[in-house]
Amino acid sequence: ALITLRQALDHAAEYGYALPAFNVNNLEQIQAVMQAADAVDSPVILQASAGARKYAGEIFLQHLVLAAIETYPHIPVVMHQDHGASADVCVQAIRLGFSSVMMDGSLREDASTPADFAYNVEVTRRVVDIAHAVGVSVEGELGVLGSLETGMAGEEDGVGAEGHLDHSQLLTDPEEAADFVRFTNVDALAIAIGTSHGAYKFSRPPSGDILAIERIREIHARLPNTHLVMHGSSSVPQEWLQLINAHGGEIPETYGVPVEEIVQGIRHGVRKVNIDTDLRMAFIGSAREFLHGGQHNRELDPRKLLTAATQGMASICRARFEAFGSAGQA
Ligand code: G3H
Ligand code: 13P
Ligand code: NA
Ligand code: ZN
Repeated sequence: ALITLRQALDHAAEYGYALPAFNVNNLEQIQAVMQAADAVDSPVILQASAGARKYAGEIFLQHLVLAAIETYPHIPVVMHQDHGASADVCVQAIRLGFSSVMMDGSLREDASTPADFAYNVEVTRRVVDIAHAVGVSVEGELGVLGSLETGMAGEEDGVGAEGHLDHSQLLTDPEEAADFVRFTNVDALAIAIGTSHGAYKFSRPPSGDILAIERIREIHARLPNTHLVMHGSSSVPQEWLQLINAHGGEIPETYGVPVEEIVQGIRHGVRKVNIDTDLRMAFIGSAREFLHGGQHNRELDPRKLLTAATQGMASICRARFEAFGSAGQA
């Protein structure tokens, strides 16, 4: 059944777990998430960026998600729009039936220039007014996502600030967070705590303490009724990186956020954990292995390739449902 982000995360808070929110663009990613959720009995957040709607066509995307809900009626599903760059983008998603939207007013409409607090409050409050009037939840964002190691936003081609960022911008201020929620009334708040989007988060193997856990705790203490969201939460699994490179890939050395660190974040109040890159890696790794592994050189049925990719992605989804404690909560 379709539920709102508020409903899903209120339950997560009550029972002390978090939900992974997987970015989806196509049939195979949606099937991977749903198959894994069905196997372990987890609620689901399917999130689509504006780019995903453009890629698939918004009507296709809308109906793919509705098909998932109809196929798995026992699984609660949040249909969430990721990183809306303007109120218009959010309104469009609401019209398509999304039960939750993210208004990312931490960046200007170009999605790469950090915005000031007043702009963020104004645009986010406008979206909350519209969304809440029709029973849709809203996620806002305060702070600029970027790696504390590199000072860079990390994403070359998508959502993220350009250029080098100050250390102070990279951690959400707890007082400002409290004001932001008071002024906007968002249901969920994405906070900057040392993660960045994309595959290139850390250049060296992370050694504990890469997330600002103390910061999460401080913000959570001030905002017990606002659900905290962690973006840029892919773990960049080294086994998938190695599989890609073993079959012709040329991905340089890079590291993500270890699952154990995310679990620490969940203990201190994180309720939604955004993951896109890990499913991209599982898709590409599975596809490369299928095409270059020597086992399928006479295969001409693309469904076999796509089934392998779906299974690869589902294995990651399942592992995250289990690690974040959402397994068994559907
Ligand atoms: O936060 C960005 C997500 O990874 C979505 O990326 O805009 O390429 O779909 P996208
Ligand atoms: P990753 O790039 O770490 O998968 O983060 C995805 C994300 O935050 C989408 O909003
Ligand atoms: Na942002
Ligand atoms: Zn994000």
